[in-house]
Amino acid sequence: MFSRLAGLGCTLLLGAACLHAAELPMNEVIANDFRVASEQYRYLLEQSRDVAGFPRSFEHGQRQMVDVKDWTAGFFPGSLWYLAEATGAPQWRSAAIAYTARMEAAKDDRSTHDLGFMLYSSYGNGLRLTGDPAYRKVLLTAADTLSLRFNPVVGSIQSWNVPHRTLAGQRSDWTFPVIIDNMMNLELLTWASQASGQRRYRDIAIAHADTALLHHFRPDGSSYHVVDYDPATGRVHERVTAQGYADASAWARGQAWGLYGYTMMFRETGRPAYLAQAQKIAAFIMHHPRLPADKIPYWDYDDPAIPKAPRDASAAAITSSALLELRHFVDSDLARQYSAFAEQQLRSLSSPEYLAAPGENGGFLLKHATGHQPAGHEIDVPLNYADYYFLEALLRDRAGAAAQPGH
Ligand code: GLY
Repeated sequence: MFSRLAGLGCTLLLGAACLHAAELPMNEVIANDFRVASEQYRYLLEQSRDVAGFPRSFEHGQRQMVDVKDWTAGFFPGSLWYLAEATGAPQWRSAAIAYTARMEAAKDDRSTHDLGFMLYSSYGNGLRLTGDPAYRKVLLTAADTLSLRFNPVVGSIQSWNVPHRTLAGQRSDWTFPVIIDNMMNLELLTWASQASGQRRYRDIAIAHADTALLHHFRPDGSSYHVVDYDPATGRVHERVTAQGYADASAWARGQAWGLYGYTMMFRETGRPAYLAQAQKIAAFIMHHPRLPADKIPYWDYDDPAIPKAPRDASAAAITSSALLELRHFVDSDLARQYSAFAEQQLRSLSSPEYLAAPGENGGFLLKHATGHQPAGHEIDVPLNYADYYFLEALLRDRAGAAAQPGH
């Protein structure tokens, strides 16, 4: 069902010709995606008017809203900033400003490691696009708050608080759990060092990335989801999963977070080990024997239910955005391979199989993402972070030029 791009419905009507996402020039695919995104997010904004919080998903026929403490809260304002950037239309900028302001309280939230996700996507894009010094202040406070979760003995920022109970209801005996996703929060810290002139944020980010390099990865380049440490000695206690199929499996979004995280950390530091790891993860994903022909992964590469397992469009969106940055750091042959693979993913996501028709999908853009399969939560649904990284990837592909932070 998923690989038959040629059999899918019309993406664009150009005169009498019906052209598909697989056949159109990429610039037309991107232009059409932004048109659809504008329609969808106009609807989503209207539907969310006078409702507190941020749209996260659409499940069981209901829009799921979250508050400022949720790790996904900042992606909605982030997508509004990307729409403002893509279209130049003032209504997106004012909506982005309004929703970004709703995120401010997160800057003092010591209970989460997700401040990078939450604030760099909202305030970070806002600062990049407006230069507003008030945004800079919020981001520096958030970097201080996030730094409080760093343990120098372990050399990591703690992800979840303990005792931890997973969404699937399992209680763990973890003492200092670190998840691969946490690589994504480091950009807030490298930015804070540049903005403040203080090295300490960058030192924390590098220590965290180095520790994850040592303990999260397997010889084939795939990663464990959770590594639990002893906070007193820094020794690894166990390597397990919370959101994947099994401890030893390759959870698709985890692989995408690792790829994006090490690509970004190479951009920020120039350290060759980060570039090498990013390339290894890219090879794992791109050449995986269970990656479907349309390049949109199943939610976990090792789910025995494949090919009947659900897909994860969010993993594909994150991967394509990461590869479109990684291509700038490698030789021309590899750069071509990364661009071609990312564009295949973007073309698939732009086809009617994944891209919502206007008014569908609760107003979100992409269909077929998976949030937390083991918990039976958010399976085959839209997710605001799938949309956010898809829009980012489209902007990166459209720009085609030198990589920039947040871009
Ligand atoms: N950081 C949580 C997730 O990727 O679902």
